[in-house]
Parts: sequence; structure tokens; C-alpha cells
Amino acid sequence: MVAPGFVFGLVLPLIVRADASAGVGFRFASYIGNDMVLQKEPAGAVIWGYGISGATVTVSLWQGQETIMKKVTSVKAHSNSWMVVLDPMKPGGPYEVMAQQTFGRTNITLRVHDVLFGDVWLCSGQSNMQMTVSQIFNATRELANTVAYQSVRIFSVSLIQAEQELEDLAQVDLQWAKPTSENLGHGAFKYMSAVCWLFGRDLYDALRYPIGLISSSWGGTPIEAWSSGRSLKACGVPTRGFTQSDTVTGPSKYSVLWNAMIHPLHNMSLKGVIWYQGESNVNFNRDLYNCTFPALIEDWRQTFHRGSQGQTERFFPFGFVQLSSYLSATSDDTFPEIRWHQTADFGFVPNARMPSTFMAVAMDLCDRKSPFGSIHPRDKQTVAYRLHLGARAVAYGEKLIFQGPLPENVELLADRGLLNLTYSQEIQVQRQDKIFEISCCSDHQCKWLPAPMDAFSAQTLALNIRSCRGALAAVRYAWTTWPCEYKQCPLYHPSSTLPAPPFIAFMTDRKPGEHSKLAGDIVAL
Ligand SMILES: *[C@@H]1O[C@H](CO)[C@@H](O)[C@H](O)[C@H]1NC(C)=O
Ligand SMILES: *[C@@H]1O[C@H](CO)[C@@H](O)[C@H](O)[C@H]1NC(C)=O
Ligand SMILES: *[C@@H]1O[C@H](CO)[C@@H](O)[C@H](O)[C@H]1NC(C)=O
Ligand SMILES: *[C@@H]1O[C@H](CO)[C@@H](O)[C@H](O)[C@H]1NC(C)=O
Ligand SMILES: *[C@@H]1O[C@H](CO)[C@@H](O)[C@H](O)[C@H]1NC(C)=O
Repeated sequence: MVAPGFVFGLVLPLIVRADASAGVGFRFASYIGNDMVLQKEPAGAVIWGYGISGATVTVSLWQGQETIMKKVTSVKAHSNSWMVVLDPMKPGGPYEVMAQQTFGRTNITLRVHDVLFGDVWLCSGQSNMQMTVSQIFNATRELANTVAYQSVRIFSVSLIQAEQELEDLAQVDLQWAKPTSENLGHGAFKYMSAVCWLFGRDLYDALRYPIGLISSSWGGTPIEAWSSGRSLKACGVPTRGFTQSDTVTGPSKYSVLWNAMIHPLHNMSLKGVIWYQGESNVNFNRDLYNCTFPALIEDWRQTFHRGSQGQTERFFPFGFVQLSSYLSATSDDTFPEIRWHQTADFGFVPNARMPSTFMAVAMDLCDRKSPFGSIHPRDKQTVAYRLHLGARAVAYGEKLIFQGPLPENVELLADRGLLNLTYSQEIQVQRQDKIFEISCCSDHQCKWLPAPMDAFSAQTLALNIRSCRGALAAVRYAWTTWPCEYKQCPLYHPSSTLPAPPFIAFMTDRKPGEHSKLAGDIVAL
């Protein structure tokens, strides 16, 4: 299906802006407008636009009648674009940004007002990111709750695809705006993302300064659509032949959403990104996701860092939601594998392959009765809350618990028929005898068998493995599409109520006490 705003490599603005009438050709980039949030210190905010080749452009920042700062540049010959980097600003506002183009004897002036400085977060992914506040639990109350959040500003990119990397957005669904029940609840999967909004609201409650939120997501799309050719190549994603990009069309086509919905934003200064995607890769290039996801993060980071002339941090914080659960006709390993690949097969983030990342575990936020299908759970508040904890720890350096318990040590006590798990944190346990499974092998055949809980204490859990008469090869936790009922998984960290993430650990010949990549590799005692 093709979106109404479908364009091929067009750079023409399809949105008529009030300011655009001020002069042919001279304009701000599509996402510089009234009510916006510009990135605060230590970064300098990038302001850019188009003009007449060779003209002088003076950008000034005003507070009331007072000029705070002035930057002068000129319009580049081939691209007809201009760009300035403002000095780093403390959070707050409002300010006015003025840009004046002088060419020969003509001056043209553009203004945007009500500009705040704060942290700008980009939110992207597929339908679970696209779901709006009108679709979630307690929608009416959440939609009405905007008065206290007038410094959280929202912006939503249109569904557009392009064959080439665009320099500016070809279309915008929602220009920078203060939140209202109308623009937050525009309809199902239309305009502002609920996860994005709730994440911004939680951040605002913690930081008490302006937050800018840019929503750019499209339902049903695989990671390949959001990846540049560079990252697909780095992961060996097949690009030719059968079932590959030649035959994939619409918004799932490789790189088309990167080109039209992400790349145009790369010249702005950002604080970070949050991402909720992966369902569309459960049956599409699933085994490559442990490469395509870290590669996307790395490529976005490089591109945004360069595009903002170093103002967006090289390793800006990148948060994501680990897939929730849904009612599937078949029960297989595909969902758990994507969840695992979302962590580059570590089970936790940040890790060596995914520095400066954070994750919200959501497998316990299932929603059997969601009117949008169980693939679209309505509790986005808990998703955003868990994400914001990760942001506070990873992006803002607060010392707080932002991830649930994982085993640090897994010890096989073969003679006692026990597998002892020592957790990194305190655990709160609710007995469930099928959630842990062991891979048991004999005659070159391995089978997954349930490993019931034997005993537990504050930080350890012993599994009964007597049902395995052969050799134990691996242990895994919550390795199903639907591991538990709503907020009823067997393992949580008690005070933070964060769920233990799913994991798989394999038998190694590592000596006890030696460290390995996986916190949970099994050691025989
Ligand atoms: C245009 O702007 C420049 C710089 O602000 C100023 O010196 C000049 O007088 C202006 N010219 C006109 C025609 O307004
Ligand atoms: C990714 O996972 C697949 C199996 O799902 C595995 O064969 C491959 O080695 C993994 N690649 C990386 C880079 O971890
Ligand atoms: C945006 O960044 C890219 C990469 O650094 C650069 O080539 C391009 O000229 C920038 N755009 C503007 C308007 O300066
Ligand atoms: C919805 O509101 C009820 C009543 O205040 C509350 O108990 C519940 O946790 C809310 N649900 C979500 C997902 O926030
Ligand atoms: C393993 O767990 C059992 C049951 O909790 C406990 O009695 C035993 O001391 C543990 N063994 C080791 C080596 O930690």
C-alpha cells in the first residue's frame, strides 16, 4: 500500500508554511518552526534552510527585544542551503529565531517564535511506536493530561518513502506544537506516538526542562526499510534476486524510510533516539537482526554526528523496546529469538556491541483483548516508564536500577541434580515450573525439557534438572512468544518491579570464576 504522500526523491516542500511566502526560495528546513524545541547545551543547536545561492544569511536569537546571539553565513552554491550552529544554550525560553537573507539590495526576514531549548528525542519504529494516545489504556484521562506538559513539544513526520536520501522532509503530518488532546489523539496510528509522548512526559517529570519529541514511524515495516545501504551491506543482507529488495515494494522496501523519514533529520542536533520495531522481522531476515539492529544504531549515530557538525554526540543514547508478546497460532522460537537479537545476543544492554543503549523489557505487558490485535498491547505507560528509567541511567547518568535481574553465574551441580543460578540483583520469585527449560542431549539429539524451581533465596535460584538423563547443553528462561500473563512473570526485581529479561545460556568449558561474554554461561562444578 502506498501512502498518500508518496514521492520519489522529491525535495519540494509539500507543506505550505506561513513563512514561505516571505520570499521565494528563502526558508527554514521543514522542521524548524514555531513552538519547537532546540537541543540545549552542551550541544549547539543547528539551524539551517535554503536560499539564493551566494546570499548572506544572518541568524539571530532574540529574547523579547534583546538579541542574544548572531551568526552569519552564506548560501552554498550547489545545494542552495545554509547552516549555522548556535552557541550552546541553557534549557528554557521562549526565544525567537530570526533569519535574514541579504542579496544585493533585497533583504528577506523569517521568524519562528516560542522556541525553547531542551532535549530533543527522535522516536521511530513500526506500529507499536505509531499507536497514539487515543489507542492506549486510560486514553481519555491521558489525553486530558496535557496542561502540566506545555514545555513538552511534539512533531510528527508524514509517512513518506523515497528512493534516494532526502535532504529535507517532503511532508510533515504535525508541525511543532504544544500537546493537546486533539493532536495527541488524532486517530488510530495517526500522528503522534503514545510511547514517544509518555516517554517525554516521564522525562519532563524527572528533568523539569523542555523536551522536544519527533515521531517518525510506520506500521508493518522491517528494519531494512529504516537502514541505509551501508548498514545492509555491512550485515550481508541479500539485496539481489528472489524475495529480496527487487521484489519488496512499498514502505518495506530497503532503505526507503531511512531515505525519506530519518535522513532528512540528520542535520539537526539531537539528544537521543528511542525505537520500537522488530515484529516485522520475526519472519523476515530474523537471523540477521543481531547484525542489522546494531548496524542501524551505529549508522544513525555516525550520520547524525556528522550531519550536525559534531553537535549530536557520536554515541548518542539509543533506547528500544524489547518485543512484547502476542497470541500466535503457532508456538515457536521466532519471537524469543528476535528479543534475543535485539540485544545482539547478550540478553542485556548496554553491552560491547551496543554501547550507550537502554532497553525496556515488555514481554510481561501482554494484552489478550486489545481491539487492535494482541500484537498491539495497550499498556504503553509501563513501556515508556521502563524506557525512561533506562534513559535516566544511560543518557543522564543517574544511579538507579533500570534493568531487571539476570544470572551472573550458572552452576551445574550434576550429582545433586541442580542447576544453581546466581542473579545480579535481588529477585522476587513466583513459582512457575515451565518457564525455565534445559536442553538435554543424548545420542546426538537434544530436547528442551522443563526445569522446575527447586529452591530460591534473595539472589539465587536452584532448578531441578533430574528429568535430564543425558548431558545438559543449555538453559533458557521465558523462551516463548507469551511467557506469562499481564505483569505476572515469575521473576522481578522487587523494589523497581522490573521483569527479569529472557535469556539463554550454554554449557562452556570455562573454569569457575572466569568471565565470558554471556553473564550466564553454565559452569560445571
Ligand atoms: C538589509 O540588511 C542589512 C543588514 O541587516 C542592512 O545593513 C541593510 O540596510 C538592509 N537593507 C535593506 C534594503 O533593508
Ligand atoms: C546471529 O544469530 C545467528 C542465529 O540466529 C547466528 O548464526 C549468528 O552467528 C549471529 N550473528 C552475530 C553477528 O552474532
Ligand atoms: C547536512 O550534513 C551533511 C553531512 O555533513 C552535509 O553534507 C550537508 O551539507 C548538511 N546540510 C546542510 C544544509 O548544511
Ligand atoms: C489506568 O488507570 C487505573 C486507575 O487509575 C490504574 O490502576 C492503571 O494502572 C492505569 N493503567 C495504565 C496502563 O496506566
Ligand atoms: C545450590 O542451591 C541449593 C538450593 O538452594 C543450595 O542448597 C546449595 O548450597 C547451592 N549450591 C551452591 C554451590 O551454591
